[in-house]
Amino acid sequence: MTRAMTSVAMMAVLAAVTACSGKPQSPRHDKFEAIGKANKAIGAELKKDAPDLAVIKTNAESIDSSAKALPSWFPGTTGPEPDVKTEAKAEIWQKPAEFKAAAGKFAAAAAALKSAADAGDIAAVKTAAAALGPTCKGCHDSFRAKE
Ligand code: HEC
Repeated sequence: MTRAMTSVAMMAVLAAVTACSGKPQSPRHDKFEAIGKANKAIGAELKKDAPDLAVIKTNAESIDSSAKALPSWFPGTTGPEPDVKTEAKAEIWQKPAEFKAAAGKFAAAAAALKSAADAGDIAAVKTAAAALGPTCKGCHDSFRAKE
């Protein structure tokens, strides 16, 4: 084999490796990361002796608007996009009624959290935040692939 041919072969191998591990993140990635960050920020405030209501309000609003939009983050009717890195399970598309129900529970819990934050009622925020977590897990258990 000539040197030129060897380097062409090498480049083909490199391209194959890149294609395999270098898929772009799903378009949902940043949106879920934002939900995760907002949820953590609220949890961190609630651990403090004097939680900052403004921080809680901002993050509760962010979660609430994400929750309303979430069903639209899974477009198409057949399954997860093949060309992106995603943990979305095929069941999202196969069991749309169940997925919608899980998203609905989350949206209701997020709306309750936002109301409690808007009312400035820290005790109610604590209750609502505690009720939100299980709705994340409820959906992940059925519809998000484990890493
Ligand atoms: C109705 C379903 C559903 C609900 C409710 C839900 N998630 Fe998820 N979540 C998913 C799915 C599906 C994925 C995988 C998305 C993908 O990879 O395409 C995901 C991914 C994530 C990720 C990983 C993001 C990434 O790509 O690295 C985080 C973090 C996350 N969710 C946090 C949360 C938190 C926190 C809550 C609740 C406050 C929540 N989710 C509620 C379905 C849900």
